Amino acid sequence: MNEENILVELTEKLKSTQHLDKDEWISLFDGRKKDQGNRDIDDYIGMTAREISVEHFGHDVYTRGLIEFTSFCRNDCYYCGLRSSNKNAERYRLTKDQILECCRQGYDLGFRTFVLQGGEDPGPFGNMTGDEWITDTVRSIRSGWPDCAVTLSVGERSRDIYQKFFDAGAERFLLRHETADPAHYRSLHPASLSLENRLRCLRDLKDIGYQTGTGFMVGSPGQNSECLAEDMLFIEELQPEMIGIGPFVPHHDTPFARESAGTAEDTLFCLSALRLMMPDALIPATTALGTILPDGRERGILAGANVIMPNLSPVSVRKKYELYDNKICTGEEAAECRGCLERRMMSIGYSIVVSRGDHPRAGRRY
Ligand code: 5AD
Ligand code: FES
Repeated sequence: MNEENILVELTEKLKSTQHLDKDEWISLFDGRKKDQGNRDIDDYIGMTAREISVEHFGHDVYTRGLIEFTSFCRNDCYYCGLRSSNKNAERYRLTKDQILECCRQGYDLGFRTFVLQGGEDPGPFGNMTGDEWITDTVRSIRSGWPDCAVTLSVGERSRDIYQKFFDAGAERFLLRHETADPAHYRSLHPASLSLENRLRCLRDLKDIGYQTGTGFMVGSPGQNSECLAEDMLFIEELQPEMIGIGPFVPHHDTPFARESAGTAEDTLFCLSALRLMMPDALIPATTALGTILPDGRERGILAGANVIMPNLSPVSVRKKYELYDNKICTGEEAAECRGCLERRMMSIGYSIVVSRGDHPRAGRRY
């Protein structure tokens, strides 16, 4: 069989069984690399993934209002512009009032999910620790907008703290595993961080009852087909409700400043493969994808994604939340991004819906 037929066959198997063995994943990723120049397999997997996504979600796109509430971080990940050794990063913390104002605006714009994202910031926030402050802020958002979901994306914590956040009303949590290959994980992070603890966190989150999101960067330094195969197998095992992937994009003030970025093609290919493996997962077309390709988010939706996460942070802080270079939407108001994305989705025959956008199989607690 020629290379292309093997790839089509693997795609078909993935679609019908939602599973590939490790060596099959490696053949799929390696085979595609070998077949470079021939993009038929990308079109084929993209189209197949789009059909699955439409079967489950129609042409609806869910939105999440992203509030980047702190740029302080105690960690020192080699890829991230917010790493603690980056002395050029401007650090800020939003106040609770600023966050509630973002929610007020966001609600009027039709958002029914707010994502609080930040570095791992121990605080203090006024007279509170970071964890107390998050708990208190989640409670205030839930009581102010009871028909909205709150998602946290604040990194690694003990199970006990995750439980406190959940009890305060946070129902979803995003924590990318970044890579499921232990040696690759060590090459992206300092020794103080371990894949083991990251996976412990993810299992705790699932166990507590969060709709849990994980994911990885595509094209991060040192990533090979075997790493990607392990990412796929890990995601299959965890069964997360959400999966976020985007290209690695270098940041000029990090050790990876001179590494090359992941490509849009590779990202779209992985996204489609994830859709085939997890037909009803919530998969965003990410800002990083929109950063390396002008119509990246539209292309993401057409390759099987069904969520977008426009920025709701105050414009005054947006440039300071610089995970990577040239991040888009750092000069726009919330309403501008919302309108822009509505038009972008309409241009490809999709529409943004006013909905919490829970996972189809998530048990509601409220
Ligand atoms: N390029 C792309 N994505 C990045 N992230 C952090 N730094 C970068 C970068 N340089 C991603 C990580 C993290 C998420 C919040 O942002 O995957 O989990
Ligand atoms: Fe922010 Fe287009 S989505 S300007």
